[in-house]
Amino acid sequence: MMKDILEQLEARRATARLGGGQRRIDAQHGRGKLTARERIELLLDEESFEEFDMFVAHRCTDFGMEADRPSGDGVVTGWGTINGRMVYVFSQDFTVFGGSLSETHAQKICKIMDMAMQNGAPVIGLNDSGGARIQEGVASLAGYADVFQRNIMASGVVPQISVIMGPCAGGAVYSPAMTDFIFMVKDTSYMFVTGPDVVKTVTNEIVTAEELGGASTHTRKSSVADGAFENDVEALYEVRRLVDFLPLNNRDKAPTRPFFDDVARVEDSLDTLIPDNPNQPYDMKELILKVADEGDFYEIQKDYAANIITGFIRIEGQTVGVVANQPMVLAGCLDIDSSRKAARFVRFCDAFEIPILTFVDVPGFLPGTGQEYGGVIKHGAKLLFAYGEATVPKVTVITRKAYGGAYDVMASKHLRGDFNYAWPTAEIAVMGAKGAVEILYRSELADKDKIADRTKNYEDRFANPFVAAEKGFIDEVIMPHSTRKRVARAFASLRTKRLSNPWKKHDNIPL
Ligand code: HXC
Repeated sequence: MMKDILEQLEARRATARLGGGQRRIDAQHGRGKLTARERIELLLDEESFEEFDMFVAHRCTDFGMEADRPSGDGVVTGWGTINGRMVYVFSQDFTVFGGSLSETHAQKICKIMDMAMQNGAPVIGLNDSGGARIQEGVASLAGYADVFQRNIMASGVVPQISVIMGPCAGGAVYSPAMTDFIFMVKDTSYMFVTGPDVVKTVTNEIVTAEELGGASTHTRKSSVADGAFENDVEALYEVRRLVDFLPLNNRDKAPTRPFFDDVARVEDSLDTLIPDNPNQPYDMKELILKVADEGDFYEIQKDYAANIITGFIRIEGQTVGVVANQPMVLAGCLDIDSSRKAARFVRFCDAFEIPILTFVDVPGFLPGTGQEYGGVIKHGAKLLFAYGEATVPKVTVITRKAYGGAYDVMASKHLRGDFNYAWPTAEIAVMGAKGAVEILYRSELADKDKIADRTKNYEDRFANPFVAAEKGFIDEVIMPHSTRKRVARAFASLRTKRLSNPWKKHDNIPL
């Protein structure tokens, strides 16, 4: 008798695990996609997944739905571990009503989000869904809104990561949009508010789903997504790698990982990183990789606004967020896109107590009508605001140019930078020598020799870090080869840093 009951449970479980049935599973595989459960297996440590609500079924009685009530209702939810650390996960099952979101499907997601908040662990959403369950109408819309509200409450409390692994249409994109990171899978995932058919009807534009909302569109053009991966397996592996860099919640510190890299490692090659010609670019990534433990760098938004680099490294096993101007792209200028990209990253780091390392080589803000009409004032202010409000440890190294307003913005001393270092090659001034002389000595412009003389004078005075160092705006001029050691010691001294902003309901960052 007891044996029968146990067997019945196993049989029920087996049916639930099949989701929408073998035919649809085969179709999912045929598209190069894994099933919801296979994805969870890859995301979490082996055998660590504990499922909730495997038998939840929808309550819809319209359109003959009462005859088709698959267990689980199109989403697999629960918790498990990634390298031993707890995370909550939901994984939409496209084989059940196209992974569409019903009232009960939403309730399952809300349940694990509430538990994640209570217990202080990240939420990872694997999205693969045709959007609102059409048969349920407003009940489904209400379900979405319940999830949205939780996304908002969880923001800054626990890390939220979205992986888009199939269609993600309509309002469904707005839950991922409010999470901290969005990753997409190339060729099999899409995000759009309205699909190609609606676009054609309304605007007469003819566009494919891939062009409208594929991985390349969202990682290069719109910046909605933070990264794109080749397939499900790679995407899930990379999410595991990211989670390793992050704290579980805003009251926790990021984990310290064992490291096998000398903290005092000297990098002689950095002494020649800066070219003799100040207008010649060099690759700032080289500096990041040489400072990081074991050269391990997790880049965020690699394909967007490449004039600024953002991502995570570890120093002495501890997570550090890096923001760096990239002289190889637009000479490392700040512009609308790079300011927005870096501001969001700085705010993520600050929300989750991740110290920030800033490498500066910036000739200023990008001039032009395109930038001014696009609101560079407001967008540039986002980065300024984000750095200024951040209370986490902030270490800054100026490698070469730090001109004008961009000098102030890039985690300068004046924005409560804790350690502001400069290489001897640093040039800290209102602008470059040529531009400055053309303004200051406009009447002498015809006299080439005189202008050359003036330019040389200006360079001697300002094209170095010492004027700023004399004023205490630069704490020390350091040798490039010892950057890793100096930065590591700076962060080590800041582990007990305490700084808080005045009480407020919340700030009013220029959105
Ligand atoms: C119920 C759905 C569904 C949905 C798909 N299915 N979307 N069932 N509600 N929204 C079902 C299909 O009937 C089908 O069932 C199965 O899922 C697979 O769908 P196919 O169309 O066969 O797959 P495919 O050709 O790959 O196309 C996938 C798709 C397409 C692009 C997602 O199904 C689609 O366009 N669906 C509708 C998308 C949509 O308009 N959603 C509403 C958006 S508005 P069978 O039984 O044949 O396997 C919205 C509002 C939210 O989301 C607002 C929140 C604020």
